Amino acid sequence: MTRSIPAPLLGKVALVTGAGRGIGRGIAHELAGQGADLALVDTDAGALAQVCDEITEIGSKSAVFVADVSDRAAVFAAVDHAASALGGFDIMVNNAGIALVGPIAEVTAEQLSTLWAVNVDGVLWGIQAAVAKFRQLGTRGKIINASSIAGHEGFAMLGPYSATKFAVRALTQAAAKEHAADGITVNAYCPGVVGTDMWVEIDKRFAELTGAAEGETFEKFSSTIALGRPETPEDVAGFVAYLAGPGADYMTGQAGLIDGGMVYR
Ligand SMILES: NC(=O)c1ccc[n+]([C@@H]2O[C@H](COP(=O)([O-])OP(=O)(O)OC[C@H]3O[C@@H](n4cnc5c(N)ncnc54)[C@H](O)[C@@H]3O)[C@@H](O)[C@H]2O)c1
Repeated sequence: MTRSIPAPLLGKVALVTGAGRGIGRGIAHELAGQGADLALVDTDAGALAQVCDEITEIGSKSAVFVADVSDRAAVFAAVDHAASALGGFDIMVNNAGIALVGPIAEVTAEQLSTLWAVNVDGVLWGIQAAVAKFRQLGTRGKIINASSIAGHEGFAMLGPYSATKFAVRALTQAAAKEHAADGITVNAYCPGVVGTDMWVEIDKRFAELTGAAEGETFEKFSSTIALGRPETPEDVAGFVAYLAGPGADYMTGQAGLIDGGMVYR
């Protein structure tokens, strides 16, 4: 027996939402590195084009689709496009999400409905569209959703955001139970403090609301991490690739913390 370079996702097609930057981009890179072809979905066409070039450089095929995940029809169209452009459909990563920072006492109906439409409806539409395609193709597919440490613990000034991430865990558990008989698994990943543009925005908003200096809130949250450094998109992507791969075939309904040691469940 000889050793070979592992490419556990060779021949698989994965769709990643919010793939234009940050964690989604990191996940797309990692899945491509492990052999998958990639359908990249985001609202930002320019960012998608850039990531598409990067996936080609890694050596995988990719297709891009500009869509807002809160639009059910657009999510279904994106999945159709992925399957027809790349010749199959195996892995759905519902990664796109937005943040909202502010006290519960001041949140408006409009802020709440925008947040919920992207973070919760978007994941639900992604689950629906993926299940429909898996059934059509007879695929024992994998669905992987973005939750958070804030999906296990409510954080001050992040109350409604935390509620959306708790909701993602609820959908993950229920969908896992509903689709186990189809051979479809549904899991979630729960990052901690990842140094992406989202955290730049969170930090800025905390500064406006609390008078903290810029960068101070990011430092404060990061200082509680047992492994002693903030998280990178690559740290998240390694876990997502595990969930997408054959090593996780016997795992479903879970929302695993990948946070360097912040929240313990
Ligand atoms: N950054 C963190 O510390 C952290 C921690 C835990 C969980 N998360 C979650 O991980 C996911 C990715 O976070 P990130 O830090 O990479 O965010 P980010 O803001 O850096 O990137 C998000 C990407 O999603 C896209 N996007 C936003 N709304 C969209 C929509 N409606 N439809 C399609 N695309 C959309 C954006 O254009 C962007 O490219 C989110 O669900 C977030 O809640 C992030």
